[in-house]
Amino acid sequence: MTLRTSVEITPTGAALGAELRGVDLRTLDRSQFDAVHRAWLAHGVLLFRDQFLADAALVAFSRWFGDLDQAPIQESGRRCVDGYPEIYVVSNVVENGVAIGSLGAGEAVWHTDMSYLPDPPKASVLMAREVPATGGDTSFCTMYGAWDALPAALRARVERLRVKHDGTYNSGGFVRAGVTPSDDPRTAPGTLHPLVCVHPETGRRHLYLGRRRNAWLEGLPLAESDALLDEIWAIATADSLSWRHHWRVGDVVMWDNRCVMHRRDAFDPATRRVMHRTQIKGETRPSPT
Ligand code: SIN
Repeated sequence: MTLRTSVEITPTGAALGAELRGVDLRTLDRSQFDAVHRAWLAHGVLLFRDQFLADAALVAFSRWFGDLDQAPIQESGRRCVDGYPEIYVVSNVVENGVAIGSLGAGEAVWHTDMSYLPDPPKASVLMAREVPATGGDTSFCTMYGAWDALPAALRARVERLRVKHDGTYNSGGFVRAGVTPSDDPRTAPGTLHPLVCVHPETGRRHLYLGRRRNAWLEGLPLAESDALLDEIWAIATADSLSWRHHWRVGDVVMWDNRCVMHRRDAFDPATRRVMHRTQIKGETRPSPT
């Protein structure tokens, strides 16, 4: 008989995030999954150290949460890991003149994954295979906290608005494959989503911002939309609402892509950073309050 340890949950002490210990993601059972799932809903971001998941195990763990999306097309055109259409590579490494992954070594600005689509993924799972000693940290911020932090007058003003989520640029500033660049958010490719959503599993209200670049509040003149978005983004990305993670090889981090944004620090391009990512399909569209 296998003796299982119970899942130990240690909140980061920041506005979101928790580290989970006592669980091997390769051999999860139903009761452990239930504990992980509850912790994910409660904390928004989960860190599991020393997991070293091979690609098959990363896919198998991710599938506990639902069906997986196919890896999106990268700016370099390459799509996925051979044999694993669900795995997207985030990396600055170039092999034989070809980038093996996406986002390079520069800063990746605050964003929500794939929110330029009508049906964005509900979760992302990132496994660290190679990391630089310094730089390349990933920060997360809570969109529940962002909604809670808005002054009442601002809440009333924006509550029913929709925001355009731009599909032109990825978070590294690269133009997505096949897209003609445009800096007019009103006509750029993308999707309008409600700015304020109700989380389908927790029932809590949160902001849904996507990316700042090329965002637009539907129906407003651009200058007015920009001023309002700048005000909201300054509140949403305050240090007090975020948690920063410094990676070790073998770390797995998963986040709730509906109510959490993330960004990545730049790092020395002469060093190697290789991350494998899966995404779990959203079961419902971002829905208004
Ligand atoms: C991402 O934006 O999905 C990647 C974040 C990271 O590489 O830390």
